[in-house]
Amino acid sequence: MKDVEYIFENRPINRIITKPVVEDKVDLLEKLKTKIQNIDNCELKSKAKKLVFNDGNPNSELMLVGEGPGEKEDLIGKPFVGDAGTLLNKMLKAINIERGKIYITNVVYFRPPKNRKPEAAEIMRYSEFLREHISIINPKILILMGSTAMEAIFGSKLKISKERGIWKEIIINNKKYLVMITFHPAYLLRQAEQKKYSWTDLKEIRKKIDSLQLKI
Ligand code: URA
Repeated sequence: MKDVEYIFENRPINRIITKPVVEDKVDLLEKLKTKIQNIDNCELKSKAKKLVFNDGNPNSELMLVGEGPGEKEDLIGKPFVGDAGTLLNKMLKAINIERGKIYITNVVYFRPPKNRKPEAAEIMRYSEFLREHISIINPKILILMGSTAMEAIFGSKLKISKERGIWKEIIINNKKYLVMITFHPAYLLRQAEQKKYSWTDLKEIRKKIDSLQLKI
């Protein structure tokens, strides 16, 4: 066998150090949370007990946005853990989605006093955070539950009864997202006759997950 001649160079190898995406996301979410924690002149923040930021899997391809924490969420510090959360869990289960496999957040991160609907100015202020939040999670499908979430992304001119159940696209920070607006579970608890529309939307969401072959 012929001797092999090895040539060694003295120059250092130009190594590129990359950080895993997962770690970046956790980092960015932590920074966003700190930014929200530090906002000034916000009635919601001054009256709430806790910052309610998120639940679920930050790497999920499905992100769901509600309105804001209620009493139980404010106590526990997690979104959708009260009655609306119980219904949400059932809705997800009906289309074979495990809650822990998706990412859940709200438009406002502090409980509005007496569970009032966030005001237009509050929605506008918090929509900046929501856009950043969406960019960090970078979902394949974005579900906006209720008129507050719809308003935060599409403005105040739309009517949820007309817009729900239709796939839309929205560009946030130069990235296009597929969006579905649907009724909020708290609304469905008050208006049970609207559940049939919600079921149509849920089945449409399941169909899209399957056709895009999402890992949910
Ligand atoms: N309703 C919401 O919109 N979000 C919650 O976290 C709880 C109830």
